[in-house]
Amino acid sequence: MFNKKTIRDIDVKGKKVLVRVDFNVPLKDGVVGDDTRIRGALPTINYLLEQGAAVILCSHLGRPKGKVDPQYSLKPVAEYLQKLVSANVHFATDSINEPAETAAAALKPGEILVLENTRYYAEEEKNDPEYAKKLASLADLYVNDAFGTAHRAHASTEGVTHYKPGVAGFLLEKEIQYLSSAVEDPKRPFVAILGGAKISDKIGVIKNLLNKADKVLIGGGMANTFFKAQGLEMADSLVQDEALDTAKEILAAASDKLVLPVDVVIADKFDNDAVTEEVAVGNVPAGWRILDIGSKTIELYGKLIAEAATVVWNGPMGVFEMSNFAKGTFGVAKAVADSNAISIIGGGDSVAAIQESGLADKVTHISTGGGASLEMLEGIVLPGVAALEDK
Ligand code: 3PG
Repeated sequence: MFNKKTIRDIDVKGKKVLVRVDFNVPLKDGVVGDDTRIRGALPTINYLLEQGAAVILCSHLGRPKGKVDPQYSLKPVAEYLQKLVSANVHFATDSINEPAETAAAALKPGEILVLENTRYYAEEEKNDPEYAKKLASLADLYVNDAFGTAHRAHASTEGVTHYKPGVAGFLLEKEIQYLSSAVEDPKRPFVAILGGAKISDKIGVIKNLLNKADKVLIGGGMANTFFKAQGLEMADSLVQDEALDTAKEILAAASDKLVLPVDVVIADKFDNDAVTEEVAVGNVPAGWRILDIGSKTIELYGKLIAEAATVVWNGPMGVFEMSNFAKGTFGVAKAVADSNAISIIGGGDSVAAIQESGLADKVTHISTGGGASLEMLEGIVLPGVAALEDK
């Protein structure tokens, strides 16, 4: 299924290997929050070190917009990585030029060098050939293990392969294998669950999954836009009026594959302490808004998930950051965890929900990619993957 060369296919002994990782992790006052992406890169890093390579890691962090901005420095991430590996971790204060070149030249097999944020250069996002060439010149070989950034055609994910042919790391390979086999060759029934506020972010995904899945369960704010397209009263609920025509078009083409909530939790204000009620869809009084799916919907979705052989979930079912509107999202998280299906979760919010539930180890695969996993579900070939050497 995965037709790209991987680090298993190349000889890295005594070589300097530039590895694009996605170390775009939450960072507050220099402290790393969720470290899933760092841990996700460890199998590749450790394998390369064991094989006698010197490993040069590059990544972006945040969106510093092409400027040096210390709050987006990768230094705290390099220090964090040092706690997870026995190899020495060095840090270069630039991703190219003198600091990077000197540190890369001095790096010995079995050691790690972390380069400073690639997005301190505007050239990174512009996929500038000169920047890509300089980055490539630091190493003998290039590996892409940054699944979370593989949907970006940037200098460190795509441009660099024009100067050093690239192969995939283990994380990238694993992500593509899970996501592409779920979408292209699923064990059936295949149930996709899509949530989140906006329908416009996920139109391509909904359309593609309506072709591939047996059921597409909708939750979150985007369900409201479908309801309004059906002519139901949404009162103060979040609705994307500009997407109503698209919603109508999807509804007309969708048949019974598209499953919408049957009941909802409504609130008299957008506040965790609001007065709440559970009502059937279509019964939202003036001044009220929908903030979660209701208990009948949790039950219905739970039943469909329990019958599935493949489940893919992206996006929350309600405003789960507020505890009174989190039941739908946590109910779906539990149903996914309890099912015997191959289960794949992508997108920051649904991943956070499954982790908060303490059920993450009951899921087959938790993706480290938000945008990248969505593009996979949309059936798009990711540029960072396309650029790698074919098998
Ligand atoms: C992500 O967090 O989705 C990736 O690291 C990509 O980041 P970006 O959306 O800023 O390109």
